[in-house]
Amino acid sequence: MKYFVAGIALMAASLAFMAQAQPAGRPNVTAKADALLGRMTLEEKIGQLAQIGGIAFVPGSPKPEDAIRKGQAGSILWISKPGDINRLQKVAMEETRLHIPLIFGLDVIHGFKTLFPMPLALAASWDASLIERVHGVAAKEARASGITWTFAPMLDIARDPRWGRMIEGAGEDPFLGAMVARAQVRGFQGNDLTSQDHILACAKHFAGYGAADGGRDYDSSYISDSELWNVYFPPFKAALDAGVSTFMSAYMDLNDVPATGNSFLLQDVLRKTWKFQGFVVSDANSIGDLVTHGFARDRKDAAFRAFTAGVNMDMASGTYNENLLALVKAGRITEAQVEQAVRPILAAKYQLGLFDHPYVDEERSKAVVGAAEYRPIAREAAQRTAVLLRNEGGLLPLSKDAVKSIAVIGPLADAKRDMLTMWSGFDVDASTTVTVLEGIRTKLGGSARVESAAGVQIAKQFRSMFEDLFGMKSAEPWTEAQARQEFSKAVDLAKRSDVVVLALGEGAMMSGELASQSSLEMPGRQQELMEAVAATGKPVVLVLVNGRPLNITWASTHIPAILEAWHSGNEGGNAIADILFGDANPGGKLPITWPRNAGQIPIYYAHNTTHQPEGGRGFSSRYWDQSGAPLYPFGHGLSYTKFAVSNLKIANTQVKLGTPVEVSVDIENTGARAGTEVVQLYIHQRAGGASRPVRELKGFEKVGLKAGEKKTVRFSLGKAELSYWSSASKGWVLDAENFDVWVGQDASASLHAEFIVQP
Ligand code: NOJ
Repeated sequence: MKYFVAGIALMAASLAFMAQAQPAGRPNVTAKADALLGRMTLEEKIGQLAQIGGIAFVPGSPKPEDAIRKGQAGSILWISKPGDINRLQKVAMEETRLHIPLIFGLDVIHGFKTLFPMPLALAASWDASLIERVHGVAAKEARASGITWTFAPMLDIARDPRWGRMIEGAGEDPFLGAMVARAQVRGFQGNDLTSQDHILACAKHFAGYGAADGGRDYDSSYISDSELWNVYFPPFKAALDAGVSTFMSAYMDLNDVPATGNSFLLQDVLRKTWKFQGFVVSDANSIGDLVTHGFARDRKDAAFRAFTAGVNMDMASGTYNENLLALVKAGRITEAQVEQAVRPILAAKYQLGLFDHPYVDEERSKAVVGAAEYRPIAREAAQRTAVLLRNEGGLLPLSKDAVKSIAVIGPLADAKRDMLTMWSGFDVDASTTVTVLEGIRTKLGGSARVESAAGVQIAKQFRSMFEDLFGMKSAEPWTEAQARQEFSKAVDLAKRSDVVVLALGEGAMMSGELASQSSLEMPGRQQELMEAVAATGKPVVLVLVNGRPLNITWASTHIPAILEAWHSGNEGGNAIADILFGDANPGGKLPITWPRNAGQIPIYYAHNTTHQPEGGRGFSSRYWDQSGAPLYPFGHGLSYTKFAVSNLKIANTQVKLGTPVEVSVDIENTGARAGTEVVQLYIHQRAGGASRPVRELKGFEKVGLKAGEKKTVRFSLGKAELSYWSSASKGWVLDAENFDVWVGQDASASLHAEFIVQP
């Protein structure tokens, strides 16, 4: 029996929940901005629209001091030392006519000085309060240094792990991505930007950067309208609802129109539909690059197109300073449009309280930045983001008493810089970062012999310009003889140890910007090393230190315990040791579907059903050489205890369109120790105005339970959860239809119920 598809447009309702929440004090700061605008010359207004690179990465960029003095800088990029910030701010405050302070912007991605797990790992915590806390610390340290703006969070949904920047986002899912986005914005911005603890956040890269062709960084994205609205936009909308102050336009072409010159994105969606009140910055040099794209004729045309598309601030291309005045004089843009672009920038400066407190307290910064009190938060975050992928025979946790000798093997065993990411700041001091080896040594405190061997080296075939920019040297490659010797040393060490911890994965610069990879194979001879170590017959725990899912298909049947530890930050090694020896119980859950190999890409759980689904009439879209199933489903992650999900109930199995469906389920810790589990709810709409994904996450709750404890978790499925954007009707619809619900511990959950939405 099918209820008819109502296909009711929800435009009115959607519009109501689309206007951006007004940050506290907004009308007030806008009035102040207007008053200031009234005193500014056109040139001064245009100057506010430029962000000048503190480091000249575009040849010929002006020196920041000169641009500031000339009134051609509203913001400075990539300066992070309080002394430098004060020096430049002084030029703005003392040597310009109107004494308008500068905003200092930096990529504060997973911490400023205290480094936390990488963003994708934070998403694996499925824990909003943890994410908020972590970004709160990052904001506090950054602000104490004089940074008032971070280019984060990155909200790009990514379904291709070859793309290096998957590491910076929350993974493949819009619902989880939206939760993470809200938490990040709250953490960075808090409730009061004038407090010395918060900074402006920037929702980037708007939009579609994560869908780059082939996972190649910067490549074009082709995204259907329904995917944009249903998959790629929701985290941005969530950030906007949480009051995010700024957006960044993306680098790539979106459906052939570069995002930085894309008025559909920046005007129609962001301003007209969502009523965004803040300002948009371009990505670095992306306005100038409109010419490179073959979109703008020249730099003047680029400035015109970006400006009229809705980019308020030019990040470092110089095109606005060069051309906007001439464009106004030629009557192609108006001074009123310039004012409109400047207003939210000035408002943000008032919001930050910069006119009253333009300088940073250098003494205070010494006390706040890198304070010891943040290290336990970094450790807790690393514990809670690790995902236990496999634990055959309960090999983990290891017993501190029983283990008398342990071999910590692999190129990531004792690699401080690789516990971090490429976005760990410019002057990264990795010396206080705890490696896997160090964490284990400290944990065992002499009660066991702990020895280490790298076994193999890993290196990128092509360095990126970031390694040069950050002054990073490539390690001297081993000679063949050395390589043989180091390999055997590692295997011999495994032979004479009780247990082996294999720390394999990727270097810090193997993911991130300009760090896409053609395959998911572990770099170098790591696979060979793993097989040789496993052949010793010793119990082996694989600890992955990496930014993206790698091909661990062999390991998934040959290595009994696998812990995905990611690039876990300063306290990573301690947290890993806590987990390996049972002082922490892992509770992280994959924010991505884990492929068996790169050929399965794109693979994500919320795909549509084909006309010949696997297990159907014998046809299917499966490859002949590979299962269609991922290695690990989205949401997967084990614990040292066991949980049972039961008693799935729907209070109202037949509801009128628009009435929320109330779901409840019991979760019980049936094991012998306390732990956390993420109860996940997925829905599927069986028919409608458009085909809908086989499953979509529409609710989850992270629950902590003592041994034997049981709780009831409740979910409400309302309009927001049940409606979708339909390409058939070009708008939001809520169909009167039959729905399936599954609740469980990952995207393959089998506990099932159904409900009917009636017209
Ligand atoms: C380019 C990156 O795409 C963007 O994410 C970053 O914020 C800017 N550079 C500034 O560092």
